[in-house]
Order: sequence, then structure tokens, then C-alpha cells
Amino acid sequence: MGMCWLQSMSVGVAEFDDDHQRVILLLDEVAAALARGDGGQAASLMAGLLALAEDHVAREEAFLRRIRFPNTDTVVAAQRDSLSRLAALGRQVAAAPEAGRAVVTAMSEAFISYLLRADINYKSHVEACGAADR
Ligand SMILES: [Fe+2]
Repeated sequence: MGMCWLQSMSVGVAEFDDDHQRVILLLDEVAAALARGDGGQAASLMAGLLALAEDHVAREEAFLRRIRFPNTDTVVAAQRDSLSRLAALGRQVAAAPEAGRAVVTAMSEAFISYLLRADINYKSHVEACGAADR
């Protein structure tokens, strides 16, 4: 239905790649719940997705500070921006599940933009400082 995780999305850290894959799976599950008209399930999946995303970016930030990535603040700001966007879309799902399709597309876009504006920027530093594990 939706997006697939691709090797080109890898940030070089298995833990974070796994989280990103989980986000994509959850987005697909939200889309499926909305498609069958189960707004309650979609909202509950969204809540789980947001909790995962919050925890994920906190772990990523700690990691980036540990490996002394010079643009951590910029990446974290872009991540926070994407999280707010996702949270707003989550509220839309809860309020009007019938608007599902557009919201799912917007969530996929928010995730892709998160990868491109934030995470992909730290990949070369992870590789250069020997912190990559895949
Ligand atoms: Fe990430």
C-alpha cells in the first residue's frame, strides 16, 4: 500500500534504521485501519507511532551528542519540526478519520521530509567517526 524502507534510507546505525522501518510499518497499519473505517484503531496506532518517534529522536539526539556531530542542533530542530507535524496529523486522524487518505499521504511526506531534512545529514559523520554498525 504505502512506503517501503529502502537501503538508501539507512543512516548507518542499525538501532535507528530499525526504528525508521517500524515507523513505516506503523504508517501502513494506520492507513489500513483508516481504509477499513476503524478510526479508533488508527488513532491508537498513531499514538503508538508518536510515542516511538519521541523516544527515537531522544535516543538519536543523545547519540549525536556522544559522537560530537557538529550540526546536532540543526538536525534536532528539523526532527522536532517533523514531530510536531506528525502530532498535528495524529490529532486530525482522531478528529476526522474519514479524511484518512489525505492524512496518510501527508504523514508519509512528513516522514520522508524528516529523513531528508534531518537524519540523512548525520550519516556521513557516523561513517567518518567509525560509529556505523551496518
Ligand atoms: Fe531518526
